[in-house]
Amino acid sequence: MSIIETYIQRHPRSQALFDQAQTLFPGGVTHDGRYITPFPLYVERCAGARKWDVDGNELIDYWMGHGALLLGHGHPAIVAAVQRQMERGVHYGAEHELSLRWAHLIKRLFNGIEQVRFTASGTEATMMALRLARAYTGKPIIIRFVGHYHGWHDMLARDTTDDTLPVGLFDGLVESTIVAPTDLTYVEDILRKRSDVAGVILEPTGASYGAVPLPAGFLRDLRQLTWKYGVLLICDEIVTGFRVAPGGAQQREGIIADLTTLAKVMAGGLPGGAVGGRADILKHLAFGDAAWNQTRKIRHFGTFNAAPLAAAAGIAMLEIVADGAPCAYAATLGATLVAGMNAELRKRRLEGWAAYGDGSIIHVVAGCSTGFTPGELDPRTPTDELKRGGDPRLVHLLRLGMINHGVDLMRGRSGFFSTAHTSADVAATIAAFAATLDAIGEPDAQPQPGASRQR
Ligand SMILES: Cc1ncc(COP(=O)(O)O)c(C=O)c1O
Repeated sequence: MSIIETYIQRHPRSQALFDQAQTLFPGGVTHDGRYITPFPLYVERCAGARKWDVDGNELIDYWMGHGALLLGHGHPAIVAAVQRQMERGVHYGAEHELSLRWAHLIKRLFNGIEQVRFTASGTEATMMALRLARAYTGKPIIIRFVGHYHGWHDMLARDTTDDTLPVGLFDGLVESTIVAPTDLTYVEDILRKRSDVAGVILEPTGASYGAVPLPAGFLRDLRQLTWKYGVLLICDEIVTGFRVAPGGAQQREGIIADLTTLAKVMAGGLPGGAVGGRADILKHLAFGDAAWNQTRKIRHFGTFNAAPLAAAAGIAMLEIVADGAPCAYAATLGATLVAGMNAELRKRRLEGWAAYGDGSIIHVVAGCSTGFTPGELDPRTPTDELKRGGDPRLVHLLRLGMINHGVDLMRGRSGFFSTAHTSADVAATIAAFAATLDAIGEPDAQPQPGASRQR
């Protein structure tokens, strides 16, 4: 039986739910990343590093709440904090002390954060960071990098250097961003020629949380360059914050951004985000006299800013994450999985395939056009190819094949480790990977044989 046939056979109830979902949701899904043919998985329950789908299949989960769940599903400290808070109220319509404790923890872990403003999501946090940069500098232009993702709002929707506009946007909306390659000469050239740049925003470990790694030293050099030209550096640490290190990529690289955007781990698995940074910049959210309020203050509302449940979960999470042990543990597992997957790729001599990663975040690419030695990612591989994981047909088979073998990789090509994962999970994942590679390469089992060129 082919990978796709096996997937269909093992998931009848997911298929039935998807049939209904198509009448309710455009495309049948609630998030583009969860869309998959012939239908997505419907999950009923999660615990630790596991999830169980509606057909009773048990899976090792590498989505981990899209990266939010560094302590795994249902960590007792977070569950207890949220349960306690449920009884005290989910929304006070008032300021509350939990938000102070949450902000204190964030400040303690992020060197450059002097003040914080909470938002309801990561997308809102990057929207806010851009507005702050413009308000502070009085300049309109933001430089961002090809393929870096900062949420789905209009201002940062375009992530390519060509002129194609994302659907639903029109020219005027995107003119204030410049999309640059991750090339500092290119960025310096813009900064030298233009005096209207407010700031530069980036994912500090590379596009899609490191799927497209940055050139060595890029973050540090960009920090120097932004200082040199007097523009703000905005680090989008929505994935990397509290994960690659308690103080995010900035702590690890020894730099301090002017503004930092946070979400995911920060909110303990509940919805929430924040912008943090220099007090003189965040001051543009504060009240002043009538003239200031009218001309310099950013208006900011948001029903669920610093929502008590998210604050309770976030505090519980950050108190545990603070000493760095969870990041370090999860990173060790990530490195073991990468090594194990690459060994399987080398055994099968699969050119253009590699596993790689950054601590607790791993990526797999399948059948890249650069055809590199198995396991040795070629940095010249095009950004869009790395972001989609290589050959889309192979990534699709990998995603379904891994699910058939009890492993749910994020979009079939990435994974987030948590403290709930174990080395036994890693061994099981490597075995599932080996079995999936064999199934992909099995000509009789696949209508379209999937393995890329063999050496
Ligand atoms: C780097 C980065 N920035 C921003 C966002 C948007 O965050 P949210 O999904 O909470 O709106 C994401 C989400 O994946 C992200 O990865």
